[in-house]
Amino acid sequence: MIISSPRDFREAARRRLPRFLFDYADGGAGTEQTMRRNVDDLADLALRQRVLKNVADITLGTRLFGQDVALPVALGPVGIAGMFRRRGEVQAARAANRAGLPFCLSTVSICSLAEVAAGTDGPLWFQLYVIRDRGFMRELLANAKALGAKALVFTVDMPVPGTRYRDAHSGMSGPNAPLRRMLQAVAKPAWAWDVGLHGRPHRLGNLEPVLGDKSGLNDYMGWLGSNFDPSICWQDLEWIRQGWDGPLIIKGILDPDDARAAADIGADGIVVSNHGGRQLDGVLSSAKALPAIADAVGDHLTVLADGGVRSGLDVVRMLALGAKGVLLGRAWLYAMAARGEAGVTQLLEIYAKEMKVAMALTGVRGVGEIDRSILA
Ligand code: GLV
Repeated sequence: MIISSPRDFREAARRRLPRFLFDYADGGAGTEQTMRRNVDDLADLALRQRVLKNVADITLGTRLFGQDVALPVALGPVGIAGMFRRRGEVQAARAANRAGLPFCLSTVSICSLAEVAAGTDGPLWFQLYVIRDRGFMRELLANAKALGAKALVFTVDMPVPGTRYRDAHSGMSGPNAPLRRMLQAVAKPAWAWDVGLHGRPHRLGNLEPVLGDKSGLNDYMGWLGSNFDPSICWQDLEWIRQGWDGPLIIKGILDPDDARAAADIGADGIVVSNHGGRQLDGVLSSAKALPAIADAVGDHLTVLADGGVRSGLDVVRMLALGAKGVLLGRAWLYAMAARGEAGVTQLLEIYAKEMKVAMALTGVRGVGEIDRSILA
């Protein structure tokens, strides 16, 4: 199929993937209202078209947490991305590196941080969940530091897993899940060859040292539910702050009071996020939550945002609302599922082009100039 727009990657991924994987990526919590609003509220933002502003030289680069980045974008953490394409996290990290962007590896990735670090020289960020076993968290942190992770993204919006009905329907969880997944895989031979046969081991690479044989896909959702610690509170973040001397980014902030608390514990950044609409259905979209949060803490820490960003134009919209950078989730996952590393490279090229057009026609020459004044 011809892929010319970011949206085409979603369709190409849908055609290639077994249903349980496509629905796991594409779905959200509850009735998926927040997930839809993430996209719709961004798309609803109208820009002011400005003309004759000499936009001959547009630069898309900026700095995030002391690193030069080619776009105000990072590839955000996505669980089990390595099931979507053979050793998928390595492929995506390479594409990010080639594009001059950071790649953030999820705790619950298929490829371990060591495997990804060996496969790319680009800056890696590591995402950590709040896990009951604090000793294990400490080990993960030490490992991330030893392998040169440049930033720690600490996800705080999953004290309990969201209610995701699509997963039960698709075979990601629910009755006879392994059998249903196998039947779906057989019906998608390109995927079955690439990932099912040649993309092994299908284990949660970062968890294997503690889970051993129980780090397989069957245990994934169960592990999420039983190992995340709902007793976590802001005080717990203090020992993480003390144990990590690099940039600390708290992901999953949707309220200005929580943003202020993140600034108070000394976080370097936050990600305004509702976990892609995968946690609590009915909360605000990221686009709606972002401006008040940027106003509250934008002078104290770096505000990033994710949720609903499906184009370079959407990146510009998020910056206009007050973000300094944007994380992509589903967008890069679909591109990687569809075309592997080359797909992610192509996606990022499309984003850069779309950003340039949006900036030229709103009359801004650098990402630092983008603010609410470009919104109608
Ligand atoms: C994991 O972070 C998920 O949203 O499934």
